[in-house]
Amino acid sequence: MMEYFAVQGGRPLEGRVLVHGAKNSALPILAATLLADGESVIHNCPDLTDISAALGILSCLGCRVRREGATVLVDTTGRRDHVVPDELMGRMRASVLFLGALLARDGEAVACWPGGCALGARPIDLHIRAFQALGAEARSWNGRLSFWARRLRGRRLALPIPSVGATENAMLAACGAQGVTLIDNPAREPEIVDLQGFLRCLGAQVSGAGTGRITVVGGRPLHPGEYTVMADRIVAATYLCAVAAAGGEGELLGTDGAHLAPVLEALETAGCETGWEPGRLWLRRKGPLGGAGSLCTGPYPAFPTDAQPLLAAALAGGEGKSKITETIFDHRFRYTQGLVQMGACIQVEGDTAWIDGRPLHGARVEAADLRGGAALTVAALGAQGASQIWGLDHVDRGYESLEQGLRALGGRICREAAG
Ligand code: UD1
Repeated sequence: MMEYFAVQGGRPLEGRVLVHGAKNSALPILAATLLADGESVIHNCPDLTDISAALGILSCLGCRVRREGATVLVDTTGRRDHVVPDELMGRMRASVLFLGALLARDGEAVACWPGGCALGARPIDLHIRAFQALGAEARSWNGRLSFWARRLRGRRLALPIPSVGATENAMLAACGAQGVTLIDNPAREPEIVDLQGFLRCLGAQVSGAGTGRITVVGGRPLHPGEYTVMADRIVAATYLCAVAAAGGEGELLGTDGAHLAPVLEALETAGCETGWEPGRLWLRRKGPLGGAGSLCTGPYPAFPTDAQPLLAAALAGGEGKSKITETIFDHRFRYTQGLVQMGACIQVEGDTAWIDGRPLHGARVEAADLRGGAALTVAALGAQGASQIWGLDHVDRGYESLEQGLRALGGRICREAAG
């Protein structure tokens, strides 16, 4: 069934919302449950279509999976297979993370090439090189990838760029490698630290996540664990940008500003007031929204690429000028077409967007990818009049009912079915 968000914009928000668990933490953590025999318990695991795909992969591999509210229980006891099913692998790029865990566990992993958001070329060469460095042989045939290792051996890996997924896959595979693996130049994202937290709770000896070198002492027997996933910092950024776009005041619970410094800084530059304490974060905009100056996305702790469309959507309806340079993905400005349909003045040249803020009006627009869809929703809340946001299958990959969260903040938004 085709669904869309019906949004009545142009009214200030006021409300309070609980931020759900982080998709990008939960996905590698679910893959990591494969490292131990028995039942692991994952709390604060968001109910999203990407997470359903990950649970589907675990089921297809022979695990018993069940959800009780925000808690997911994964029992790996009956697992037989090390072939990730094509359909699920094609649906979500993060399926590639199951390869590292399977390789660590069985010395063997097979999958087709991964899918995911269309953000431009998204190779997995760094994942493959990490597996090879640990002693795996890689083979690609008929659109399928297979890895095999008689014995993985720990060693020093230096990532040429701090890829989040390659770092996670290297950590997972290294848990099954004999000896010490050093991962130099790893991604330092908070989700990497969260994966380290879960691996430690399985009994793995992992340290250094969040710094320039991760150390894994592999080959130890692991046991199942119980863990609570961190809050989703991009969902938090979405709510903050929605309040910045529409004006008013919003309070976010279950999260704080610890991982959001560059986003908060940009919103403050644009004239918002923000503040936080552990477990609580708020944003207030009483006056007009100005520009955010010049900013550039980059690996953590720089401005997150996933929050770039969200911030741009708020700024487009403000009164100032901003310049945003995207350094991580090639095709991350496609959402600007939808903003232009709402009256935005944005010029994109190569990796840079120049935004000249002005009042937006409602429009019927289509999401092209996950954060792009959320960005159009943010813009619609700040725009005068009614909007329709189509393409919700993208949005549902990463938000547990975005409309409910925005309604809790006072937004006039509902999900409608076509026809
Ligand atoms: C993860 C996040 C995604 C976020 C991104 C960057 C998950 C499930 N997804 O994606 O939401 O936007 O981090 O913060 O956690 N690259 C290569 N070769 C590789 C791997 C990556 O060249 O083998 C390049 C990519 O094309 C991209 C850059 O490295 O230009 C960063 O990508 P990466 O950090 O790997 O992103 P993901 O893990 O895919």
